[in-house]
Amino acid sequence: MTITQEVQTDAPRPAPIIEVRNAAKRFSVNGQSLTVFDGVSCAIPQGAFLSIVGPSGCGKSTLLKLISGLEAPSGGEILFNGAKVTGPAQGMIYVFQQYTKSIFPWRTVIQNIEFGLNSHKKKLSRSARADLCRHYVKLVGLEGYENYFPYQLSGGMQQRVVIARALICEPAVLLMDEPFSAVDALTRAILQELLLKIWQTIPVTILFVTHDVEEAVFLSSRIISLSKSPAKIHEDVAIDLPYPRDQIATRADERFHELRQQLFASIFLQEKGGAPGASPSVKA
Ligand SMILES: Nc1ncnc2c1ncn2[C@@H]1O[C@H](COP(=O)(O)OP(=O)(O)OP(=O)(O)O)[C@@H](O)[C@H]1O
Ligand SMILES: [Mg+2]
Repeated sequence: MTITQEVQTDAPRPAPIIEVRNAAKRFSVNGQSLTVFDGVSCAIPQGAFLSIVGPSGCGKSTLLKLISGLEAPSGGEILFNGAKVTGPAQGMIYVFQQYTKSIFPWRTVIQNIEFGLNSHKKKLSRSARADLCRHYVKLVGLEGYENYFPYQLSGGMQQRVVIARALICEPAVLLMDEPFSAVDALTRAILQELLLKIWQTIPVTILFVTHDVEEAVFLSSRIISLSKSPAKIHEDVAIDLPYPRDQIATRADERFHELRQQLFASIFLQEKGGAPGASPSVKA
């Protein structure tokens, strides 16, 4: 998997795996209508690692929920592999920020991971289920901890369980809403590298919401920055840093700092109330 999907060429582009077409979302709050966004459109190619950033409350999580089918749009439509999303779609998995709430405390690591197989496309034999569980335990680096209960694991290890449980049903799209915000900085750096390794190993498209611009630049092939509510796509930036990425070498790259600075300035000026157009927009 490379970032070449984002690069302009004359070759015909493959159909996007996700298309957001003119999406709007309004909520009714205490009898008043709140427009979170209106007229948001984007096309996400298969295999992308796309992050969504933007000021707090601008609608990042809402956009992710619309794409996943957990929330219905008030206008426009979402297409997944060309088909309109009308509810939680098979092939898309949503990973919430609060990992402690999404794993079962009474199940061991392996039992939690195996639970993900309930939404697997195929009916699997007992031995195939066991093989898959072993494979995903290894992929997330939890060998030796199979029979531990969540309370016996660190936060980072619990988040690995959540990732393995999401991946075991082989989703085409993994939607992650601030998945690493509750772990310490070092664990976060390790989980970021792990996620990139997984993304480069298996054919999955990742949509990742984060507050952390550095995290977005480190991980992504493309970043969408939303403006303050009612949100619009303010910037759509191709991250032209080579893969595989490395916490030390990538963060030392001058281009990493340029991209981080550009995105940070854009979000910070909006949060402070500056003009949304204050930072130049780079089109992917
Ligand atoms: N179910 C709901 N009912 C009413 N309003 C909602 C609902 N969900 C979200 N909102 C509102 O929509 C707006 C966008 O919320 P959202 O959670 O998508 O923002 P966000 O960008 O993810 O914020 P944060 O960065 O703080 O996580 C907020 O004003 C929020 O209050
Ligand atoms: Mg959010």
